[in-house]
Parts: sequence; C-alpha cells; structure tokens
Amino acid sequence: MKFRAVRPADASGAEVTIVPLFDDKQTPKSLPRAKRAIVERLGGERGATTLYNVFTHVGGDKDGRVVVVGAGKRSEYDAERARNIASAGIKSLWRTDAKAATIYADPTAIGEQRATQAAVEGAHFAMWRPEAHRSKPEDRRLPPLATVTIAVDGNVKDALRRGDAVGQAVNLARRLANEPANKMTPSIVAQEARAVAKDAGVDIEVLDRRKCESLGMWSYLSVAQGSHQPPQFIVLRYRGRGGKGYDLGMVGKGITFDSGGISIKPADGMHHMKADMTGAASVIAAMGAIGALKPKVNVIAIAPCTENLPGGGATKPGDVFTSMSGKTVEVINTDAEGRLVLVDGITYAQREGATRVVDVATLTGAIAIALGNHFSGLFGRPDTFVEEVRRVGGEAGDRLWPMPLTDEYRNEIKSDIADITNSAGREGGAIKAAAFLDAAVEGGTEWAHLDIAGTFWSDRDRSHAPKGPQGPSVRTLVALAEHYART
Ligand code: BES
Ligand code: MN
Ligand code: ZN
Repeated sequence: MKFRAVRPADASGAEVTIVPLFDDKQTPKSLPRAKRAIVERLGGERGATTLYNVFTHVGGDKDGRVVVVGAGKRSEYDAERARNIASAGIKSLWRTDAKAATIYADPTAIGEQRATQAAVEGAHFAMWRPEAHRSKPEDRRLPPLATVTIAVDGNVKDALRRGDAVGQAVNLARRLANEPANKMTPSIVAQEARAVAKDAGVDIEVLDRRKCESLGMWSYLSVAQGSHQPPQFIVLRYRGRGGKGYDLGMVGKGITFDSGGISIKPADGMHHMKADMTGAASVIAAMGAIGALKPKVNVIAIAPCTENLPGGGATKPGDVFTSMSGKTVEVINTDAEGRLVLVDGITYAQREGATRVVDVATLTGAIAIALGNHFSGLFGRPDTFVEEVRRVGGEAGDRLWPMPLTDEYRNEIKSDIADITNSAGREGGAIKAAAFLDAAVEGGTEWAHLDIAGTFWSDRDRSHAPKGPQGPSVRTLVALAEHYART
C-alpha cells in the first residue's frame, strides 16, 4: 500500500472518495460539486453524523464510489477522531475490489501534518485482520488497495512517512501477538526481529542461554527452566546520533506463552496468554519504525523472550534466584514471571548505557481491574519523566493513566529470606509489580513502565481494530524516540 498526498482541489477522479461528515453538515470546500451534492443528500437521508456511521454511494457519479463517514461533533474533532474516520472509511471497502481510495483529511484545529499522519495510520489500522490461519484465502481477504491518497493542502511529506512507518509498526505488533504460541516461539520471535532489523537497517544481537548465564541473568533464566524452547534475549541497537550510550532503552516482556508455570493458571481464557509477548512485539515493531524514520537519537530495544511452563525443571514456589543487578528474588508465585524477565532486561539496558528506560508489559491482571480496557497503566520516576511519557504517548494516540508508586509499596515486596519477593498479595497488584521493577532501576536512570495487560487485547471490534490484538504502546515508543531526537 502506497500513500501520497494531493491538494483537495486536484483530488477528483478517485475510484473511491472517503469524506467525513460532521454535525454541521459542512462538506470540504474543495470537494467537487457533484460529490458534494451526493454527500449532502446522503447525509440528510441517513443521518451520517452519527459517529463512524458509514455508508457508500455506488455509481451515479462518473468518478466512482463515495463513502461518507459520520464524523460526529466538529467541536470534538481531534487526531484520534481523524484516525478513526479514515479507519472506518477504509474498513467499509473490505468486501470490495477497490484498488485506490482518496481520503479527505480535515485539518481544522489539528493542522495538515497531524491530519495527514492520522489518516495514514487509520488506513493502515483498517488493513489488518486476525484470520491469518483460515485455510480458504477468501476468508482472510482484504481489498487490493494499492494506493491511498490523502486530499490535504501543504507539504505533508514527513507526515506521510511517519504515518506509514507507525501504521506498519502497529500492525506488525498485532500480527506477532496474534500468532499462536506454537507458531511464535522465542526462536521465531528472534527470527522476526532479525527480519525487522534487516529491513530497518538496525543492529541485532540475540543472546542464548549460555550468554545470559555468563551475564548472571538468573531471574530471567528461572522462567525458562520449565520449557523445552530455548530462551532468546533479543537486543536491537539503533544509533542515529552516533556517540556513546542510548537516549532511550525500550524493554518488552516476551513471554510467548504464560501457563503460569507450577502456579498454573485456570483454563478459562488461558489461550490469550499466547499474546503475553505483546511488550516484546511492541519494542521490536517500534524499532522497525525508528530505523525507517531515522531520528537523530540512540535507541536500544530489549526483548527477553521465553515460555513460562511447568515441567520437571521448572521453578518451584519458594525458589530463590539472583538477578543480573545482584538483588536476590524469592519466587513465591511462578505466574508472576513477567517482572522476573523484565528486571534483567532493565539492568541490561542500563549496563549498555541507556539513561532512560521505558518497559512495556502485559504484566498484571490487576491493571485491567483498575483501569479496564481503555487505558494502559503508567508508572515510573521521576514524576516529570512519567508526565513527559504520558503527554508524548497520548499525543501519539496511546491512552496512558498515571498510577502511584511510593516507598510504602516498595516496602511491601520485601522477602523474608531474600531481598524481594515476586508476589506479595493481590491488593494493589499492579503497583507491587511496578515496585518490583523499580528495584532494578539505578539512581540516575529515568524510568517508565507501561502495564498493557488491560489494553493488549479487545474482545470486541473497535473503530481502529477488529477484536483481537490491539498493538498498544508502539506509537508511544516511536514518538518518544522522535521526541528525544528533538530535545
Ligand atoms: N501475563 C500475566 C498478566 C495478564 C493477565 C496479562 C491477564 C494479560 C491478561 C502475568 O504474568 C500474571 O500472571 N500476573 C499475575 C501476577 C500474580 C501472580 C502476582 C496476575 O496478574 O494475576
Ligand atoms: Mn503470569
Ligand atoms: Zn505473564
């Protein structure tokens, strides 16, 4: 799918024209007269201003199909709305043979750049489906869209590039998370990461079990003990500004299947745990976009991958391990494995010279209890950094909500026989998990933790994604890399 922009005045003659219609019924001024009449008539007849209400006018106009997307109140219009309008419009083409579509991107209040990027992202989001393993090709068929044109004024080249890179990255994260665990083992994640690195021109290194042992990653390795699949500690490096160290380290939880280990999970919904590597998918996908966009910033991405299974060699509740940082960990519950792999990833990032670390993880059921499915939990320190991540991530389209993290919580994860325990009761479970990660964060490091256990998956269709994996946090990571290239 190729993206280009044309001035709205020159956009007539498209095979499909996607037009938002707001409550004020104002059609884009540059829309050709004949199409305008169609939009106005349909809007009147069908009440198109109900949000994302989509209907199509086929034929009757020599230029082709017109798709009207209900855009709601103009006063509520923002980049998120623009993304969803584009997404709804492109989604309406699913059962058609459309090869080209033109989207009218309304720049009112958000400007041409943001309107364009949002439209491109929205188009990408609409071109993702979860039925990868249906045997009949027609069951997973998307429209053969080769060109999507954004009708907008101004020079929007950068916005097109950004939207394209970010849209692809989110869809990649969705694809990886969607794969069943038998087809997305740690080794296959590493294979996928190699392909991303090659495409994006970034360096990749995959540490095997022996290498991780020599680095003392016993916390991470403890999780891999019960599995026949070899652990893969994936590291991607991008040096856009040159010089030493990294302005941003991204660490993603890479549990390719979480059975809970010996503290085994209930069967209900356990299959969702094939996507317990969504954090890893996010950092790998984000690195792909960063490599493509080439911001002047140094970024390291780390994805500690393994399965969490019971078995003869598996960790037993009560076992104690020493993490790479030197802190000792008592494993009270083998199902609290995410924090065990993340701490060694966070330590590794700091040893490599990352001054800021953002980790992304489907870490706790508790965050879904606290925030539901629409906001990811945001933790970290100092508060100024957390606020920066919230703002930059929010502007990019991820919804993040700050959660508390104070010494009271840090004290509650102390172990009777070791330094810290990985499970200290259900109350405040998401905060205690964050407190555990905090123990690996060294003095000068700025750190943020995104708990995406409530947002990684949707049980119903959304305007920007079908039910299934959603790909949260990818946009935040890419936007942060671009942000630190500017500051
Ligand atoms: N991967 C799970 C968290 C999760 C739950 C993600 C539901 C997505 C949907 C994590 O490894 C886990 O099992 N956490 C436990 C921690 C507890 C044992 C301290 C949890 O949340 O119950
Ligand atoms: Mn678990
Ligand atoms: Zn898990």
